[in-house]
Amino acid sequence: MAQAQIIDGKIMSERLRADVAADVARLRVEHGIQPGLAVVLVGEDPASQIYVRSKGEYSLAAGMHSVTHRLPSDTGQAELIALVGDLNADPLIHGILVQLPLPKGLDERAVLAAIDPDKDVDGLHVVNAGRLASGQPALTPCTPLGCMIMLRETLGDLTGKRAVVIGRSVLVGRPIAQLLLQADCTVTIAHSRTRDLPAVCREADILVAAVGRPRMIEADWVKPGATVIDVGINRVPFDDPVKAAQGKTKVVGDVAYKEVSAVAGHITPVPGGVGLMTVACLLQNTVTAARRLAGLP
Ligand code: GUN
Repeated sequence: MAQAQIIDGKIMSERLRADVAADVARLRVEHGIQPGLAVVLVGEDPASQIYVRSKGEYSLAAGMHSVTHRLPSDTGQAELIALVGDLNADPLIHGILVQLPLPKGLDERAVLAAIDPDKDVDGLHVVNAGRLASGQPALTPCTPLGCMIMLRETLGDLTGKRAVVIGRSVLVGRPIAQLLLQADCTVTIAHSRTRDLPAVCREADILVAAVGRPRMIEADWVKPGATVIDVGINRVPFDDPVKAAQGKTKVVGDVAYKEVSAVAGHITPVPGGVGLMTVACLLQNTVTAARRLAGLP
């Protein structure tokens, strides 16, 4: 069996970021609008700090206005919601993202609900989730959007394909299932209570793994030739026991990459796959929000 073709998130995200930068330049010249993104980070979670830094750097590189608010982990709920209110009212800001997870004691739902749905570039406000579920134009969560771009660029028309999504999170599983449905796939959402998960997965032409468990999806879970999208970002000790003993870690996906590559037709690597598309889609959503807020098509 031939090795799966790699779906290269680096190349695709570079192309998408270049397209976004061109849109930003056009908005400035033609309408005098500079899309603005505000990212809010509460606390010192190390992974969140890395993600937030890259969001700031990429938005500046695309020519956007970019602000990052870093707040201490003991920030109160009222203070955080007041900041969101200020950003809602700020005409220079078109997109607001509050990095998750929030420190204990803060109510994520209440904070997300405080964001103006038309500036909710994360697509996590219930209004946007509802718009997506009912097929209306919505700001859509960035990771699912990135997965769909990868699938369309790899497979073209997705009509009639059997898609299995493993994971039912609000951030990834549920919205990607909605997008696959909109693309006329036959969609199954599988989760920790699904019976005979390997057999369900083997039915998939498109298998999306969004569970957060390192290398859970094995080769015999995958139909030969299937397209495998790995959303997982899991930190694990190195396989090499010497490096592991030094406390060194590496990032792996939810898919046993080497083994599954011998069966799948196409596969996204981790790192170098979906994660890079997430940031590029955040920039795209910010341009979309800026255009809609200005009443542009
Ligand atoms: N933490 C991990 N991924 C995300 C994301 O897409 N959005 C937000 N707000 N927080 C995250």
